[in-house]
Amino acid sequence: MLKKDQKSDVYEQFIQAKKLGENEKTSILQKIKNVESFSDLMEKINRKIIKNASFVINNRVASSVYRKKILRHHCFYIDDNEVKTLMEHLNSSKQLKITNEQTKGKRGNENNEEMNDKMNENQTWFEIKKNVIYDNLIFKIKPSIQEYIKSPFAIVNLNAWKTKPNMKVVYDEHGNSRGPNRFHQDGYPPGHYKCMIYLKPLDDDHGKIQVEDKIFESKKGGLCLCFNNNLYHQSIPGKSGERHVIEITLMRTIVKVDILKNYPGTPDSIHLKQAYQAYI
Ligand SMILES: [Fe+2]
Repeated sequence: MLKKDQKSDVYEQFIQAKKLGENEKTSILQKIKNVESFSDLMEKINRKIIKNASFVINNRVASSVYRKKILRHHCFYIDDNEVKTLMEHLNSSKQLKITNEQTKGKRGNENNEEMNDKMNENQTWFEIKKNVIYDNLIFKIKPSIQEYIKSPFAIVNLNAWKTKPNMKVVYDEHGNSRGPNRFHQDGYPPGHYKCMIYLKPLDDDHGKIQVEDKIFESKKGGLCLCFNNNLYHQSIPGKSGERHVIEITLMRTIVKVDILKNYPGTPDSIHLKQAYQAYI
């Protein structure tokens, strides 16, 4: 448990990150000034508007049909046997690294090779294929996710990885901090949420997770944290133990869909290319 003065430090850290993020947001005038050419303008329109239009429409309709307001975060546990089964399965799965290879039907991270190398020094991903173990996990946690998200949903990506202790913040070629261990927003199109499953305890040894001004801790493995990943959050590295995490990315849908159809992810995938893929 955090002491009172630690809690105020955590709050202060979040406020600073938020202020910094707001200062970095470019004004509309500055955005217009930054346009270099007609093709640059078209590329920006495509990246910001056309590419995300299906997600914006999907989320608008889902929010008007179902409850608009979703809690910032929601926690629940999977049982110890489930944690054991998942750990055994991951430990027998093929180990992978980030490569920036395109995953069919999915969008991915857009890091350069140097950034990937830095991430790969500390993190190892597990191969995820459609499997009865993940199918069962999804069915077990579905009611708790439903309670949080207040609408039907699709699972648009499932990833799993392990992180070495003492992972540092990584920096890109412009000196900007990158990676999970600094306050950031994931910047996914609207309608996306995450459910993180921590298979190890959330403590000083294995690391913790912070969403805005709240640090999540757990004496045992199996804590599931659903949260809006466009809120400021950061991973707090552990001091001695490896951290094993399953990351489930959710997208609100307007009607019930097959939630098992799109989950297999790769180290390079984050969510579907277009919202309609969840319905077909
Ligand atoms: Fe994140």
